Amino acid sequence: MENTRSLDSHTTLYGIFGDPVRHSRSPLMMNRAFLECGINAAYVAFHVKPEGLKDAVNSIRALGFRGVNVTIPHKVEVMQYLDEIDEGARIIGAVNTIVNDNGKLTGFNTDGIGYVRSLQEETGIRLEGKRVLMLGAGGASRGVAYAFAKAGVSRITIANRTQDKAIQLASSIDAFAQSVGIGMDNEELDRIIEEADVIVNTTSLGMHPHVSELPLVSELINNNHVVSDLIYNPRITRFLKEAEARGAVIHGGLGMLIYQGAYGFEYWTGTPAPTAIMRQVVEQSLED
Ligand code: ATR
Repeated sequence: MENTRSLDSHTTLYGIFGDPVRHSRSPLMMNRAFLECGINAAYVAFHVKPEGLKDAVNSIRALGFRGVNVTIPHKVEVMQYLDEIDEGARIIGAVNTIVNDNGKLTGFNTDGIGYVRSLQEETGIRLEGKRVLMLGAGGASRGVAYAFAKAGVSRITIANRTQDKAIQLASSIDAFAQSVGIGMDNEELDRIIEEADVIVNTTSLGMHPHVSELPLVSELINNNHVVSDLIYNPRITRFLKEAEARGAVIHGGLGMLIYQGAYGFEYWTGTPAPTAIMRQVVEQSLED
């Protein structure tokens, strides 16, 4: 297969809006995916400042972009400029993917569902009926909690340093989860760990450069658990290393990045995303 393609007057346009945006792996990943599938398209990173967001969104219509990803800090603000918001994005309260259907812009959130798809595909776990312990209740947790609920888990427990945020998050997804609880004192948390099938870190503890921090210290983690971390820098956090040493199946955060993009690719093109090649190109870029 040829490794380059030429752009022409039929090239379909895509992009990502962020501030900052130069660190984004999405252009590499998405352009490689288009190439792999023989789709005549180009995906470009746009540094959009908050004051320029409205105009940038209007340019999607004006210039006929088929789709755009939205990243920090625009995921919430962008919603007011769209024509429709998908149910999941509405509940999560943030949009990371925009689809342009002949000028009608619809916002989706593929972060959480991307995460859940990567967890299932990469570990082989079937989430239906499983019990999940989520550590953290920040921005990233919302989509993940929603996607777990949608995947049919039987219980989600949210443990967070600031308990009010865990309570708020739990109540916002309660209608979708069969059961949502809040991790409280240590004794209760121990019981929840023992009963959990999946333990996932959604906090920033352990993220580069604070690689020695742990979101949870527990002797109770064992080979009955799938332990997952949303962090992908480092690729394998200390939390995951320790869980693996205890026999748990581990799952890192890189898949979330790949599969959130895979969903966008599929919404835009109707073509199954070439996830293996997308992963390869992202992994390679992290090594550079
Ligand atoms: P993101 O959008 O990446 O999820 P965030 O919204 O700032 O970031 O959320 C960070 C999460 O990490 C929160 O759950 C936060 O706990 P609080 O809600 O109590 O702030 C958690 N977190 C960050 N630093 C922490 C620390 N030192 N100890 C415990 N939890 C921490």
